[in-house]
Amino acid sequence: MLLGTQQVGRNGHLEIGGCDTVELAREYGTPLYVMDEAAIRANCRAYKAAFASRYPRNDIYYASKAFLTTAMAALIASEGLCMDVASIGELYVALQGGFPADRLALHGNNKSRAELEYAVKSQIRHIILDNFLEIETLADVLKEHNTEIDVLVRAAPGVDPKTHRLIRTGQADTKFGFNIANGSAIAAVKKAVATPGMRFRGIHCHVGSQLLDVETHEQAVEIMTNLMLAVVTETGAVVEELNIGGGLGVRYLRDHQPPSYDEFAEKITTPFKAALDRLGLPYPVLEQEPGRSLVGEAGITLYTVGAIKTVPIEEAPGERTYVSIDGGMSDNPRPQLYEAVYECLIANKADQPADKVITVAGKHCETDIMIWNTKVAAPEYGDLLAVKTTGAYNHAMASNYNRFLRPAVLFVADGKADLVVEREKLEDLVRKEHVPTRLQR
Ligand code: LLP
Repeated sequence: MLLGTQQVGRNGHLEIGGCDTVELAREYGTPLYVMDEAAIRANCRAYKAAFASRYPRNDIYYASKAFLTTAMAALIASEGLCMDVASIGELYVALQGGFPADRLALHGNNKSRAELEYAVKSQIRHIILDNFLEIETLADVLKEHNTEIDVLVRAAPGVDPKTHRLIRTGQADTKFGFNIANGSAIAAVKKAVATPGMRFRGIHCHVGSQLLDVETHEQAVEIMTNLMLAVVTETGAVVEELNIGGGLGVRYLRDHQPPSYDEFAEKITTPFKAALDRLGLPYPVLEQEPGRSLVGEAGITLYTVGAIKTVPIEEAPGERTYVSIDGGMSDNPRPQLYEAVYECLIANKADQPADKVITVAGKHCETDIMIWNTKVAAPEYGDLLAVKTTGAYNHAMASNYNRFLRPAVLFVADGKADLVVEREKLEDLVRKEHVPTRLQR
C-alpha cells in the first residue's frame, strides 16, 4: 500500500515526496512526522473538484483540528480552501500562518467569551453557534464592539454512524449542537435571527469521523434538508448555507475502502438536489469540513527500531515478537484512544518481502502497542520503521507524556524537505516551570 507520492527507490528505501526516508531520518532524527505536500494539494483539489463539478455552489473548509501548523495554514490558504478552527489556539495558529480571516469558521461546544471576542475582532467569516449560552455571550460581544457577524446554527441530526463510539457526533444524545427533535434547533435559529448583530446564514451538522460508507451522510443530508424547510416555514429566514461537516474515512489498512471523493460527492449531491427540488427550496451553498480525508494518508511517521524481544504466548504461533520503537503514545495516542489500526514497513528494506509477523511497541511506561501482529521485512536494531496514514490527528494530539519530546514535522515535495516544526528540546520541557522559593536549595 503505497499512498500519495510514496515509492520504493532503487536502493530499496521508502521514498516520499521524492525524498529518501533513510536520509530524512539521518538528517532530522526520529521520531519524525513527514507530510507529503503534493498529496495534500492533490487531495484538496480532487475533493473540491468532486463537489464543484456536481454542485457548483460549494465551499470546502479544511478541518484544521486534524493537523495544523503555520505552514499547513499557509498551504491550505494557497489551495484556496476555507478552514474551520475549533479553539482560540487553532484560530491563533491559522492567523499566524497568514490564513485569511474571511475564510475562517469557528467551532466549539463551549466557546469562551475570549474566543468569541477574538473571532469577532479578527473578523472571521462566521461562527457556528452550538448552544443558547453562546448566543447570549456572542450577542453581548457584538453589542460591546458595535459590530456584526455571520452565524450558522449547529444541529444534531440524530443519526448513528458506524465508527468508534468516541468519534460519533451526529446522534441525538450528544454534547454537540442543538437537538432537532426537541425543537432546540428551530428555537436557536429564531433567537439568532432576532439578535442584533447576528446575521443568520444557515445550518450545520457533523455526523462522525473515519466513516467508510456514505449512508449516515445521506441520512443527515435528508434530515438537514427538512430542517431547512422548517426554518423557512417557522422563522421566515432563508438558509443560504448548509454545512454537512467532515467525516470521510481514509485507508489505514489496505482492506479499508473508503468511498472515492467522486462516489462520496455523487451520493450526497444527487439526493440533496432532488430533495431541494421536491421541497421547492433554493439551492444553498453546500459546505463541508473534511479533515482526515485531506491529510491522513499524506503523513507517515518514521521511527528507529530499538529492542526486539520474543516472548512465549498461549495462542498460535506460540510466540510474539515485540519490536520497540523510539516513540509511541506521545506521538500517536490513537491506538490507545480509539483502538486505531495501522500498517507499517521497514523503510530501509522496502523492497524486501514483508514476511515476519511483529508487534510494534512504543517506549512509554504503558502497554502502548502501536500495531498488533503486522507483517514486515525481518526487523533489526537500527532499522527505520515507517507507520503509514499518520497525517491526521497524530501531530495534533501529541503530548509530552513521560516527558517525551514532541517530534519534528517535515513537509516534503519534489525531492526537497522543509522543517515546518522543530523537534522539541529538553529545555522546552521546563521552559514554563517554576520551583517555589521555599523548595529551592
Ligand atoms: N467538523 C467538525 C465539527 C468536527 O467535529 C470534525 C471532527 C470534523 C469536521 C472533521 O472530521 P474528519 O473529516 O477529520 O473526520 N481525534 C479523532 C477524531 C476526532 C474528530 C473530531 N471532529 C481521531 O483521531 O480519530
